[in-house]
Amino acid sequence: MNGISGKVALVTGAGSGIGRATAVAFGEAGATVAAADVDEAAATETARLVEEAGGEAAAFHVDVSDEDSVAALVESVVDRFGGLDFAHNNAGIEGEGGPVAEQTLENWDRVIDVNLRGVFLGMKHEIPRIRERGGGAIVNTASVAGLVGAAGLSPYYASKHGVVGLTKSAAAEVAEDGIRVNAVCPGVVDTPMVGRFTEGNEEAMTALVEPQAMKRPADPAEIAAAVVWLCADDSSFVTGVPLPVDGGYVA
Ligand code: NAI
Repeated sequence: MNGISGKVALVTGAGSGIGRATAVAFGEAGATVAAADVDEAAATETARLVEEAGGEAAAFHVDVSDEDSVAALVESVVDRFGGLDFAHNNAGIEGEGGPVAEQTLENWDRVIDVNLRGVFLGMKHEIPRIRERGGGAIVNTASVAGLVGAAGLSPYYASKHGVVGLTKSAAAEVAEDGIRVNAVCPGVVDTPMVGRFTEGNEEAMTALVEPQAMKRPADPAEIAAAVVWLCADDSSFVTGVPLPVDGGYVA
């Protein structure tokens, strides 16, 4: 894709699932990839996979809910690779299920801290560095859970609606700096996160994909392709968009 080769891309939550697939896709498109995760061993494995696919990569530790950690990550990436052009703020957790009246404050805080504060902190520290390059792109991972509601996982749904709002606000702020900010809203994707809901239970997967016109989970590479496209010149007039990549979640 145009405008990816030779650029520096930072991916959080790169140790697994969608983040790992995006890191590999950026590498295949010719970007230098900073693969960051709270699980540093998993990030290291992703960096190895990017290199196996012909790209250049390095692994970094980050806890996206911790401002010092995020600030240190962005500085380390710039020190290592000379700048930052693209960021995929993707790290996220599902948290505990249960109705609002039975949710614990602890679970609420944990999910909001990783999924929403993490995206805020990422953009806060990435934007000045991307601005220094004269422009670039940010993609935040929201979800169909950022567009619709459903019973039983309210902190997660609230966090993802927050990511959509944050994405639109940031897009309005930085458009004149040549920075585009979008979100991907995946439907059900075949990753370890979904595996924790469906393991050993085929009916659970069937129920999860039922609201999608395409009654199958996405391969993580299908989300990664959208993320790379949202950073490429091919999407040069697209900003502030929560892009559904959901197999037709039309319910
Ligand atoms: P995953 O569980 O396979 O990977 C998440 C990665 O984030 C893990 O490597 C984990 O170590 C990392 N992580 C967790 N907390 C972190 C923290 N505080 N700091 C840094 N890294 C941290 O999950 P998956 O499915 O790849 O999810 C990635 C993103 O996509 C999440 O934001 C998730 O909410 C979102 N998503 C996933 C969907 C799915 O069906 N799998 C659907 C829609 C959105």
